[in-house]
Amino acid sequence: MARTRPFHGRNRSSILLGATMKILAIETSCDETSLALVEASGGIKNPRFKVLKNIVSSQIDIHRPFGGVVPMLAKREHLHNLPKLWKQLKKEKPKFDLIAVTVGPGLSPALWAGIEFAKSLAKELKKPLIGANHMEGHLYSTWLTLSAKEKIQFPAAALVVSGGHTMVLALESPTRWDNLGETRDDAAGEAFDKVARLMGLPYPGGPEIQKLALKGDAKAIAFPRPMLREKNYEFSFSGIKTSVLYYVRDNPKTKKADLAASFQQAIIDVLVGKTIRAAHEYGAKSVLLSGGVSANKLLRETLSGESKKLGAKFFVPDFEFNTDNAAMIAAAAYMQKMRKKSLKMEAQPNLGL
Ligand code: KG4
Ligand code: ZN
Repeated sequence: MARTRPFHGRNRSSILLGATMKILAIETSCDETSLALVEASGGIKNPRFKVLKNIVSSQIDIHRPFGGVVPMLAKREHLHNLPKLWKQLKKEKPKFDLIAVTVGPGLSPALWAGIEFAKSLAKELKKPLIGANHMEGHLYSTWLTLSAKEKIQFPAAALVVSGGHTMVLALESPTRWDNLGETRDDAAGEAFDKVARLMGLPYPGGPEIQKLALKGDAKAIAFPRPMLREKNYEFSFSGIKTSVLYYVRDNPKTKKADLAASFQQAIIDVLVGKTIRAAHEYGAKSVLLSGGVSANKLLRETLSGESKKLGAKFFVPDFEFNTDNAAMIAAAAYMQKMRKKSLKMEAQPNLGL
């Protein structure tokens, strides 16, 4: 039977039990414009996602000369890219029940570009629209590439680490968690970007430092491991950047590869140390890693190894879903829909977890 009403009109109880739905998601919180089509099912207890399409248009080349993301330029590019990506997706005659858009956290002008586009698309296509939390997106990105056999067991500990955030969560279930701690100043990704910049490497710094570090000695320089020994789950990465700056000033002949490797190791020791402590304290059966910095191979390997030592299973999404993408926004929107939770349809630059 042809559906005559949008998704809301369907049997509500079937939604709560985990109805299957197709979601068109839009992400514009920072410097990637992304559109995705995801089929979601299973409900909040055992969510399952099938990514049918995930298109990402990166603005990195535009922001690179400025050494970081310029919000108004990001907005301009999103406004330019969104119709282009939609045109590309439309060719495949996508069918979906719901439109989802990131409402925060992120850069206000960039978020508004996505929200306005989503609003007009929802109106034009007469589809319901839902706002999603970008950080929940990173968290749920871990579910995007689970195989049919895999299941995330709880309790779980999660490290969500990106250019804007560094946080450790203890999860009781896919939708209930305690935010154990965040960074007091710079996020880990931001530290990678800033150190890369002072080393004369291009933006974004994470992948550049990772590449250079392969040729260096991680034990060459003993950079501080900020807050590692403190019995909390907070981070502070702004001091390490200053340490690198002074080290370069006082030792101008240092091999750049040694600098990169030693810095990367210091950051990873802190991230892994705190996450594993949380996993231990909460008796985690699973350890989850997500966010842009989770693309770092050494971080993945180290956290995976340490999780196994604890007897916990380690989960990280495929590389495609580490940095910003709209597929993860569809996942966050599905979980939100299942919880009947809604977010205001306006830019919320400081939205938390
Ligand atoms: O999640 P994301 O795409 O955007 C935010 O929500 O912030 O994360 C981008 C951050 C940047 O700081 C970038 O340098 C970092 O992730 N990043 C990496 C790597 N790839 C991206 N950091 C370390 N190693 C990497 N391989
Ligand atoms: Zn992100």
